[in-house]
Amino acid sequence: MLDRPHPTPEAPTTDCFALARQLSGRHFIGGRYVAARSGASFPVVNPATGEEVARAAEGDAADVDAAVGDAARAQKEWAKVPARKRGALVHQCAAIVREHVEELARLIALETGKALRTESRVEANTVADILEFFGGLGGELKGETVPFDPKVLSVTVREPLGVVGAIIPWNVPMLLMALKIAPALVAGNTVVVKSAEEAPLAVLRICELLNRVLPPGCFNMLSGFGPDCGAPLVEHPLVRKVTFTGSVEVGRIVAKAAGEKLIPVTLELGGKSPMIVFADCDFDKTVAGALTSMRFTRQGQSCTAASRIYVERPIFDRFVEAMAAKVDAMRMGDPLDEATDIGTIISPEQFGKVRGFIDEGIATAGATGRACSALPADPALRKGLFIQPHIFTGLTGESRLVQQEIFGPVTCIFPFDDAEAVLAEANGTEYGLAASLWTNNLKVGLDLAHRLEAGLVQINQNLVVQANLSYGGVKSSGLGKEASLEAMLEHFTHKKTIMVRMD
Ligand code: NAI
Ligand code: MG
Repeated sequence: MLDRPHPTPEAPTTDCFALARQLSGRHFIGGRYVAARSGASFPVVNPATGEEVARAAEGDAADVDAAVGDAARAQKEWAKVPARKRGALVHQCAAIVREHVEELARLIALETGKALRTESRVEANTVADILEFFGGLGGELKGETVPFDPKVLSVTVREPLGVVGAIIPWNVPMLLMALKIAPALVAGNTVVVKSAEEAPLAVLRICELLNRVLPPGCFNMLSGFGPDCGAPLVEHPLVRKVTFTGSVEVGRIVAKAAGEKLIPVTLELGGKSPMIVFADCDFDKTVAGALTSMRFTRQGQSCTAASRIYVERPIFDRFVEAMAAKVDAMRMGDPLDEATDIGTIISPEQFGKVRGFIDEGIATAGATGRACSALPADPALRKGLFIQPHIFTGLTGESRLVQQEIFGPVTCIFPFDDAEAVLAEANGTEYGLAASLWTNNLKVGLDLAHRLEAGLVQINQNLVVQANLSYGGVKSSGLGKEASLEAMLEHFTHKKTIMVRMD
C-alpha cells in the first residue's frame, strides 16, 4: 500500500473535476507522485467546454532518466518474483481497477470528451478484463526441450527484455495502455509509460492504483510532449523494448530510433478499415453493425473505424437511408450525461483536421455529405468540439477522404457490383489493420476473408480489440501483435537457449 498522504483520495471518487486538479503537475515514478524536474506544465482541457481542468507535468529527458533508472533497478527484483506470482499481482490490480471503474470512467470522459455510458465506462471495464486475462498467463511463460543430442540437455527459457518504454495515444488511452503494461509486467519486465498530451489524467490515476499492489518502480508514468519526452524514452540506453500506438508518421520515427539502438519495437498504427456488405446480409443487423463498426459513439476516433463502406448495389440506396436515419437518432451532448451517445472530438487540432476533410468532401463535385444527429443546444457546451457524423456518397477511390485516416465521425459509402472489384478497392490503401464482411454466404465471406490485407477480419460482426485474440496490422498499419498470449511471448520476452553436456 502506498504511503499517505497523497494528493489523490484513497477511496474511489466520482468528483472527476476535483480528481483532475489533484492529479495536476505530477508524474508517477518509483512508487510515488513526483513533480516534473523542470517544474513546467501544460493544460489539460475538457473538450466539451474548452475549460482547463488540470495541468499536466511536462516531462523531459531528465524525468525520463529518473523513471527509467528506477524501472531498471526494480526490474532486477521483479524478474526474480515467480512468474505465476507476478501474474497473481497483476490480477489483483484488476480488482482495484474494478472498484474504481466509475471514477475512471468519469475522469476519462472529462479529459477526452467520450460519452460516459457508450464509451468511457466500457473502456474502464475492459482495462480490468485485460489485467485479469494476462494475470492468468504467468504459468504460460514456458520454454522447450530441444532434441539436440541425447548426451546434451538442451532447453530454452523465456526471459524478460528489461525496461519497456510504452507510448500511447489519446483515443482509448487506458485500454491501449493495459494491452502493453499487463503482458510486459507478467513477463517480468518493468514499464515506463509516456501518456498522450491530450489525455494524461486517467492513466496517471491507474498507475497510482496499480502501484498499491506492484513493487515500487515496476510501473511508472510520465506526461509530456512527443519530441521532448517520448523521443528520449525511446532513445534511453536502458530501455530495451518500445511499444507504440499512434500515427503512422510518428510510428516511423519511433521505429527508426529503435532501429538505431537495435531494440525490438511493436507498432499499432492507423487504419482505413473497409466494411463490405452483400445484398444477402441480415439487413437490420448490418445497418446496426455499420454504426458500431464506424465507432460513431467514439466520434470515429478509432484505428479500426469502418471508414469505407462498400454496399452491393441492389441494397445500396436503402442501406444509406437506413444508416443515416439510425445515426440521426443518436444523441450528441455532454459526455458526462448518461443520456449522451456521442461526445466530442479530442482537441482543436483534431477538430480542424476532421472539419478539413468534411469541407473537402462537400466541395467535391458529384459527392454528397449528409450531416446526421443534431448538435447539442445546451449553451454550456457552446465551445465544445462537437462534429456531426457525416456519411459521404459519390466520392471516387482516389479522394483523400477514401485514402487517408480521418480519425473522425466520417464514413464514405460506395455501391459495388462485383466481389473481385470490391476486394481490389478494399485492399487499395496503404493500411491493413481490420476489415469486416457482412453476408450469409460463408463461402464467399471466407474466400474474401483470406484475401483481405488486414490483421483482423470479422464476418457479420465488428468488435473492438478483445483479450485473447491477437491484434495488429499489416502494411502501414503496424508491426507485431497485441492482446494475446503469443503477443506476450513474442514481444515481451526473448528465448534463451541453455545447453548442458551430460557425459
Ligand atoms: P501521434 O502519433 O502524434 O501521438 C501518439 C503518441 O506519440 C503521443 O503520446 C505522442 O506524444 C507521441 N509522440 C509524438 N511524437 C513523438 C516522437 N517524436 N517520439 C516519441 N513519441 C512521440 O498522434 P496524434 O498527433 O495524437 O494524432 C494524429 C493522427 O494519428 C490522428 O489523426 C490519427 O489519424 C492517428 N492516430 C492513430 C491512433 C491509433 O490508434 N492507431 C491513435 C491516435 C492517433
Ligand atoms: Mg502528433
